[in-house]
Amino acid sequence: MGRVDPAMSREGVALAQKAQCMLFRKVSRQKRKASVKKEPGAAPFSYEHPPDVGSGSLVLQGDAYDLAAQLTPSTIDLIVTSPPCWGLRTYGLNHNWQVIREWKALGKTPDETPPYDWYRRTGGVLGLEPTPDWYVHHLSEIFGRLLKALKPGGSLWVNLGDTYFARWSSIRDRGRQGLGDNPRIRRRMPMGGYRQEKQLLLIPARFAIHMQENGWILRNDVIWYKPNAVPRPEGDRLRLTHEHLFHFVLKPKEGRAKYYYDADKAELGCADVITCNVTPGQNGHSATFPEELVLPRIESSCPPGGVVLDPFCGTGRALYLALATGRKAIGFDLIPGYCDASREAIAAR
Ligand SMILES: C[S@@+](CC[C@H](N)C(=O)[O-])C[C@H]1O[C@@H](n2cnc3c(N)ncnc32)[C@H](O)[C@@H]1O
Repeated sequence: MGRVDPAMSREGVALAQKAQCMLFRKVSRQKRKASVKKEPGAAPFSYEHPPDVGSGSLVLQGDAYDLAAQLTPSTIDLIVTSPPCWGLRTYGLNHNWQVIREWKALGKTPDETPPYDWYRRTGGVLGLEPTPDWYVHHLSEIFGRLLKALKPGGSLWVNLGDTYFARWSSIRDRGRQGLGDNPRIRRRMPMGGYRQEKQLLLIPARFAIHMQENGWILRNDVIWYKPNAVPRPEGDRLRLTHEHLFHFVLKPKEGRAKYYYDADKAELGCADVITCNVTPGQNGHSATFPEELVLPRIESSCPPGGVVLDPFCGTGRALYLALATGRKAIGFDLIPGYCDASREAIAAR
């Protein structure tokens, strides 16, 4: 990712970048409003009138940050999810590429992180933060809000991949990096500290450490090895063919963490490396959860009849598998089309 087109001069890239920014700024506010609007007929939720999953499933459209606050405390057995990665794709959302300027205008530096609520109110999209630290803070802030909905014996499984730093980074609408037919935009990243050309950013590790510092207990850092990972042209390093799957539980007020876990339902041998192919995208989504990865998480970390939440549910693979194995399922997604895809996946069961 992140190499400047050889056919384009530096000035040309800067001009193209500027033009793109202006265009995005012009349309972003209006479209952003549309993308977070409530679904027609959706009931207003609050702690007093929490969404009722009943005996089945519920898919809500909106920002996981907001919807987290609408869950009834201590009702979820398992959160299993794959949030948007940092700096890879826009999911068709309109991002304010000038958000860092607006932050600096408040007298702040890029090394200080704005709260997620300020960031998104200023037009920022989760995953498109100007630095990995902003992203890690925002993710951890959202999981901090979801924490309240977890039962004391609950679990949180988070899938995250890593990426390299590039002064000029490529961001695609949707789909994977490395695919030539997928239009991309370029943005100039703030360099400094560990943010240097060609640097592997260790975003999953930064995230896990931040979560630990915010009170979560990390039980496993599972490596998901992807034998069919997309080939890359770089000749000076090995290919990035793995992602991480972190298992967190709640820190008890005293003593050692106790939580539901059925090791017989995890992978044979209970090894913390899982080999499993990337599954082809569904409904325009490129990052569908592979069943072999998610099913053992659901069966080992959620009791039968329990409630599974995927706050970034995309095409709803985790929800489908939860229901198929006798659990209840709640999904959130910001994009109405993915909420529909999740509902269809559930209905087709
Ligand atoms: C990596 S994908 C998840 C794919 C999913 N595991 C599946 O099997 O299809 C991340 C999802 O998060 C959604 N998303 C991005 N920002 C969000 C936010 N702030 N709140 C809720 N969903 C969000 C995107 O629309 C996308 O569908």
